[in-house]
Amino acid sequence: QSNYDLVLTDINMPGMNGVKMAEQIKFLNPGQVIIVISAHDEAGYLLDLINLGVDYFILKPLDLNQFLTVLDKAIRLTRYTLMQKNYQKDLEETVEKRTRELTEALNMVQEVSSEVVQRLTAAAELRDGDSGLHNRRLGIYSPLLSQELNMPADFVESIAFAAPLHDIGKIGIYDNILLKAGPLTKAEFEVMKNHTLTGASIVAQSKQQKIQMVESIALTHHERWDGSGYPRG
Ligand SMILES: [Fe+2]
Repeated sequence: QSNYDLVLTDINMPGMNGVKMAEQIKFLNPGQVIIVISAHDEAGYLLDLINLGVDYFILKPLDLNQFLTVLDKAIRLTRYTLMQKNYQKDLEETVEKRTRELTEALNMVQEVSSEVVQRLTAAAELRDGDSGLHNRRLGIYSPLLSQELNMPADFVESIAFAAPLHDIGKIGIYDNILLKAGPLTKAEFEVMKNHTLTGASIVAQSKQQKIQMVESIALTHHERWDGSGYPRG
């Protein structure tokens, strides 16, 4: 049992002596407040009882005033211990609740941002009807390729998020050029090249690492390793 408010025990008792009992109670409930009543010839046990963490001792024969004083102190200690225990429990529950709320909020932010990306991608696809599957494939292949190149996990996660938005700048290209069935003239192609700059400017100056990657990919996805390509090549 560990739910007594206060334990008041003699040392010399039938069955189990008070020292053994105090030891077992403190083992089950270290915060249990114990008062031991001891006779003068049992003073040898006192050191053992102190080591066990017994809180109060009263010598026999009992002096009523002394007994009431010790009892009062013991009750105060019990209340304080209980208060501390409840405070600790409340604190743990509050921390657990706040952690849960924070995790939920973080999940929500992640869900919202990934939904915004999907919808932005959908907006770009609506303008440029035939690249829808291409964008989705990029969201799958880019992280796979990054993994093969042993890129860090946060890079792999970011590129899966960012790659489908590479052509977001096409939103800013007029339909007569963007949707032209035949090959583009030189002048039209010059306009078309601007989708890289427009894309980068849509997401420019973000503090978010994933959006910064969108800016970089939007700007550079037509550059080539040999230094050609556009807009800078
Ligand atoms: Fe492009």
